[in-house]
Amino acid sequence: MENINTRVLELAPYQPGKPLEELSRELGIGDAIKLASNENPRGPGLGVRQALADAITGISRYPDSTGYRLKRILADRLDVDEAQITLGNGSNDVLELAARVALSPGSVGVVDEYCFVVYPLAIAAAHGKLTRVSSVDWGHDLDEMATAIDAATRIVYIANPNNPTGTWVNKKSLEKFLNRVPERVWVVLDEAYFEYVDGKDYPDGVKMIVDYPNLIVTRTFSKIHGLAALRIGYSVTSSDFADLMNRIRQPFNVNTLALAAAEAALADDDYINASRRLNTRGMDYVVKGLGKLGFSVIPSAGNFVSFESGLASRRIYEALLQRGVIVRPLGNYGMNEHLRVTVGLPDENERFLEALSQII
Ligand SMILES: Cc1ncc(COP(=O)(O)O)c(C=O)c1O
Repeated sequence: MENINTRVLELAPYQPGKPLEELSRELGIGDAIKLASNENPRGPGLGVRQALADAITGISRYPDSTGYRLKRILADRLDVDEAQITLGNGSNDVLELAARVALSPGSVGVVDEYCFVVYPLAIAAAHGKLTRVSSVDWGHDLDEMATAIDAATRIVYIANPNNPTGTWVNKKSLEKFLNRVPERVWVVLDEAYFEYVDGKDYPDGVKMIVDYPNLIVTRTFSKIHGLAALRIGYSVTSSDFADLMNRIRQPFNVNTLALAAAEAALADDDYINASRRLNTRGMDYVVKGLGKLGFSVIPSAGNFVSFESGLASRRIYEALLQRGVIVRPLGNYGMNEHLRVTVGLPDENERFLEALSQII
């Protein structure tokens, strides 16, 4: 195959969580619930709805390609320079841009064994080779990841917390790792679930960029902010790296409605705090419920939890579908004996556990 990037042949396409519409089409279940994609179950906040209604008149024009207002708000909140921020069509976009800036044919990207599936896709699409480092206790083995870095390595991806395992790395071990990484190697710290984490030793990647200018911190509006369908996320990096990403991004990669909604979402602290509280209570309820049913869980810092469902995982997944509950099978992560469930609204969590108890 001389006329294609052969790395693409090694990939399987990204498998999204099953959409509600699809389940209803296939099984005729009208009141199904989706706990498969780590979305905010509360729906968008009132401020966001209003902002969208106001912004709709502007959609016959191209969006503000610079994202001027949103970047100013973010820069202010995060105490960084606007020039350090890159907006993306979901944080997925900036994860890919980072790979395209960093990698050239033959150079290497390092990831964890159970990494978010988008990283290998981004690395391969940028013609890079992949080095996977075995996990310890389902989490990143940062010592081994540092050891795996060689002369060909250009980029390392770390999700904190990690999806699908929910594991996280603390500040001390992250610093120790970063101290071992050569400055020429970019480290992507994917903080998609940042706002959910509640722990004093959890590092704030943005604050670490002054000491480690090779850090690329990514965050999203898809999770706690409840804007998954609008596709908007961002990275904070050195302004030099942001300048490079800006050269290769699509000119209008973030749309007008997403920009308006993100601004409104950032202003709604009540929504964010209530979402975090709902998740903390729901996580506790789901983890306890899974424990009562005899499942062991991987402790998670996000808004989802993976549990050991054994050889029958696929059948449990299908049986849950039959009962109108969509969770995520993890076969494409190499975790055939686990399922992942997103923490939902209280009645959704209850329905999930009830359906699971009927199945087993
Ligand atoms: C760890 C992680 N990073 C990034 C993303 C991508 O999110 P988005 O492109 O919606 O910002 C997800 C989504 O599930 C995720 O779990």
